[in-house]
Amino acid sequence: MSKTQLFDLDGKIAFVSGASRGIGEAIARLLAQQGAHVIVSSRKLEGCQAVAEAIVQDGGKATAIACHIGEMEQIQNAFAQIRERFGRLDILVNNAATNPQFCNVLDTDLGAFQKTVDVNIRGYYFMSIEGGKLMRENGGGSIVNVASINGVSPGEFQGIYSVTKAAVISMTKVFAKECAAFGIRCNALLPGLTDTKFASALTQNDSILKMALQRIPLKRVADPEEMAGAVLYLASDASSYTTGVALNVDGGFLS
Ligand SMILES: NC(=O)c1ccc[n+]([C@@H]2O[C@H](COP(=O)([O-])OP(=O)(O)OC[C@H]3O[C@@H](n4cnc5c(N)ncnc54)[C@H](OP(=O)(O)O)[C@@H]3O)[C@@H](O)[C@H]2O)c1
Repeated sequence: MSKTQLFDLDGKIAFVSGASRGIGEAIARLLAQQGAHVIVSSRKLEGCQAVAEAIVQDGGKATAIACHIGEMEQIQNAFAQIRERFGRLDILVNNAATNPQFCNVLDTDLGAFQKTVDVNIRGYYFMSIEGGKLMRENGGGSIVNVASINGVSPGEFQGIYSVTKAAVISMTKVFAKECAAFGIRCNALLPGLTDTKFASALTQNDSILKMALQRIPLKRVADPEEMAGAVLYLASDASSYTTGVALNVDGGFLS
């Protein structure tokens, strides 16, 4: 009996934003292990180069490209590079996001609001447009948007961040419906509390962590690697009839 090829990514080109650490790094490493050539991206090139070099040392294929997804010019520039160097894109993982302000919703700062919207909504939207155009030229592809459980059940003092994550879930359905005709699928991952720098304000504070764990049936925080398997499923042929879904990987939090 031969092993399934459903999760094979040989010959595929995959772009992962926010891949210099945390969930994005775990996703980049797994997609590369499955055979994809991974474009490791974030704002700072050095961090991306370190992850790309580690992937290559492990026998995989990877390239580092810097791109601040809150800057339209940088998005255009990144895709111009992808077009020139690879001429195609099969998988886009929109993972980089920001959450600059923890506060009561009535104290929301306009600058923090704008930054969160620019990165988490406009960034994901135009990354998907640029990625989608390249995928359309080559007969299809898979877009995976890393949203959050906050997009369904807003986190306390995470007002505008939660609103943007709800928008990502909506955006996922929009792209799924309108891009299916081009062979492009689009799905969302909704991580629960995961042990990364991003979540350290919650995970490093004993009383906040204790409260959070009370609401998680599995009674623990996730490792970044526990998000990557779900992304592999959504990125690969294993999910060929799945589009427009929001997949909770949250230890049961939303159940
Ligand atoms: N950790 C959690 O508990 C949790 C829960 C639910 C959802 N999520 C979601 O999971 C995703 C990844 O979060 P994480 O926890 O892995 O965060 P993380 O460990 O802090 O990593 C964030 C990554 O994004 C990059 N980045 C930040 N701002 C960027 C920008 N404007 N443009 C491009 N890259 C940018 C960072 O590198 P540079 O500094 O070099 O840019 C880094 O590679 C986010 O969408 C987050 O909302 C996380």
